[in-house]
Amino acid sequence: YEHGLEDGESRMYAEMLEQPAAVERALRGRLDDRFGTAHLGGLNLDARELRAIRRVKMLGCGSAYYVGQMGAALVEELARIPADAEAASEFRYRDPVIEPDTLYVAVSQSGETIDTLLAVEEIRRKGGRVIGLVNVVGSAIARACDGGIYLHAGPEIAVASTKALTNMYVAFALLALQLGRVRDLSIADGKRLVNALQELPAKLEQVLKLEDEIAEIAADLAQCDSMFFVGRVRGYPVAREGAQKLKEISYRHAEAYQTSELKHGPLALISPEVPTVAIVPDDELTERNVAALHEIAARGGPLVVVTHDGVDLGALDVRRIDVPRLERELDPILLTIPLQLLAFHAAESLGLDIDKPRNLAKSVTVE
Ligand code: G6P
Repeated sequence: YEHGLEDGESRMYAEMLEQPAAVERALRGRLDDRFGTAHLGGLNLDARELRAIRRVKMLGCGSAYYVGQMGAALVEELARIPADAEAASEFRYRDPVIEPDTLYVAVSQSGETIDTLLAVEEIRRKGGRVIGLVNVVGSAIARACDGGIYLHAGPEIAVASTKALTNMYVAFALLALQLGRVRDLSIADGKRLVNALQELPAKLEQVLKLEDEIAEIAADLAQCDSMFFVGRVRGYPVAREGAQKLKEISYRHAEAYQTSELKHGPLALISPEVPTVAIVPDDELTERNVAALHEIAARGGPLVVVTHDGVDLGALDVRRIDVPRLERELDPILLTIPLQLLAFHAAESLGLDIDKPRNLAKSVTVE
């Protein structure tokens, strides 16, 4: 660990703090200022092959699946290629159609998750092309793929993944940029994103500084048995990852939902005992998101809002966490960090063993 593990300090904590440095490693030598693009040599795909891709499908398990969903949004926005994410554990069993012009992307920190590995093998057996977004060099998934992007997050020990997920996100941003720049993404937009990625480590430092205020909110949330995490479009996978982290290490029930779907069911459960953590970035959907906050508040539901400075939430009694702005496309990663801190401090306030959550393994190598 670059900053050194202090006595009794949790691995997850050290790994969270290491994220700015980890992102710098993931970016090193891969950004091109001049042409506003990325260079990912390990893909083993030339420009002609990149241009021939008609669809992109991300496959991973657990948090890697949720980051895959964030990655799919990046690819669609920047490269305008249809993209989606699926749980690798389900993919193989639904007898999927393997298309020759689809790029399959296997996402895994350990590179050893059996469900993801078997999905890769099934795709390759049927003639599909798979790249890996993998942290552990030379791991089974890395070896099974046609090419890939190593994450360079460094060893991750805590079961609850933090820096590897952040670097997965960065790898997706680089992939989306490279795919975009051999298609319609303009050089101006390419440069805008290259600059934003260069600023990301400093922005991550800023989010990590919000720790004390987040710890207070976390201690209160930890007193509740059940809560919602909600977000829309870019914010939805963020909500899913936030709920997952909280469940994994604090053993509180947390359910992620699309904010837009609340009124189609879960609003029935909102009450003063059931708080909602809402992801409300400053984007095309802010107004709609704020309207949903009012619906929750009207039913007495306590609110924690992860948002940007200056977003007007109206006269609502909420606890807000303002993250720094970057570029809209890259919002999800900065919105995710407070949720890591939230889960960590919720678990810590309950006196739980954060690095060894019950019933879970760092990587699941049997089906
Ligand atoms: C396990 C861990 C999760 C992790 C998932 C995928 O279920 O508990 O935290 O997200 O595996 O692991 P991978 O190594 O493939 O990223």
